[in-house]
Amino acid sequence: MAATAATRQPQKDLPLEESRAYLKNHFKDHSGAKYKDGWDKLWQAGDFLPWDRMVPSPALADTLNNHSHVVGSAKLVLPDGTTRRKQALVPGCGRGVDVMLLQSYGYDVVGLEISAKAVEACETYARETENEELYGCKDEKLGKGSRKFVVGDFYADEWLDKVGVKDGVFELIYDYTVSLFSELSFNGLLILLQFFCAMNPSMRPAWANRMSTLLAPNPQANLICLEFPTNKPPNAGGPPYSSPPKAYMEHLSHPGEDVPYTAEGEVKVNPLADSGPGALERVGHWHPTDTHAIGKDTEGKVNDYVSVWRHR
Ligand SMILES: C[S@@+](CC[C@H](N)C(=O)[O-])C[C@H]1O[C@@H](n2cnc3c(N)ncnc32)[C@H](O)[C@@H]1O
Repeated sequence: MAATAATRQPQKDLPLEESRAYLKNHFKDHSGAKYKDGWDKLWQAGDFLPWDRMVPSPALADTLNNHSHVVGSAKLVLPDGTTRRKQALVPGCGRGVDVMLLQSYGYDVVGLEISAKAVEACETYARETENEELYGCKDEKLGKGSRKFVVGDFYADEWLDKVGVKDGVFELIYDYTVSLFSELSFNGLLILLQFFCAMNPSMRPAWANRMSTLLAPNPQANLICLEFPTNKPPNAGGPPYSSPPKAYMEHLSHPGEDVPYTAEGEVKVNPLADSGPGALERVGHWHPTDTHAIGKDTEGKVNDYVSVWRHR
């Protein structure tokens, strides 16, 4: 029987430590301007993609199904009362599984990838699976949205012209990666696997700033973050780095600003500090009913959180 989107098997997992060591070694040879090539080579070889679960994030599905009172639907109501589909972004979309899911809920979705080969993989996967039940239209009245996979760097602007998104901003952004690796040297900076847990905490201000810039200043526009790992001790290092809810709160309340951490790596919370320019406000926070295995404890209890953010 042919594999379907729901039954395709991810690659056999290497133990986590081995995966991290492999990736670190790989990116040692792809520092600086070779960063992009590093990702592309992994996608070209195609035999070591340990993050690639082949199915959409269960936490995103749970959010769309069970928390629509927070995130709304894919329909954006304009000031004149007319409507259009919301524009959604999945940065570092990998094989595009979460792009396909959002499309099935009616969003017009952009899947952004730094690797051209990953974009090819997205196109192939999308063609093979688009008629499967997993990605079937979730609301007949809304219908399915569109999808576009594009090559570009989350932190640069050049891809925005290619996607033709109105005002260069999105009404939904999904920030998530089952990431194993962190900072890479790129353009003279220490960066940039976007996605909160994967970054060295010193890069979090840039991440928060970029999210604030790309999220539409509209009360119907939401940044959805899958918070992971939430219960790792802060001094345990990374990646993935300890990412408790308060770290998201401090950074997204002060995009682009340095947020103080203790010597042990714990974010210092200052509830009396004013929020900074471009601050996002948390409007929802919960444990999803399900998430990928890496976000659960040995008994299957979900440790991940989902948080939802908006411009004030
Ligand atoms: C660890 S993988 C996760 C992929 C996907 N989100 C998933 O969970 O299956 C990270 C992905 O982000 C892409 N990526 C890394 N840095 C990026 C950047 N600066 N801009 C866009 N994509 C990036 C990589 O090519 C890779 O496919």
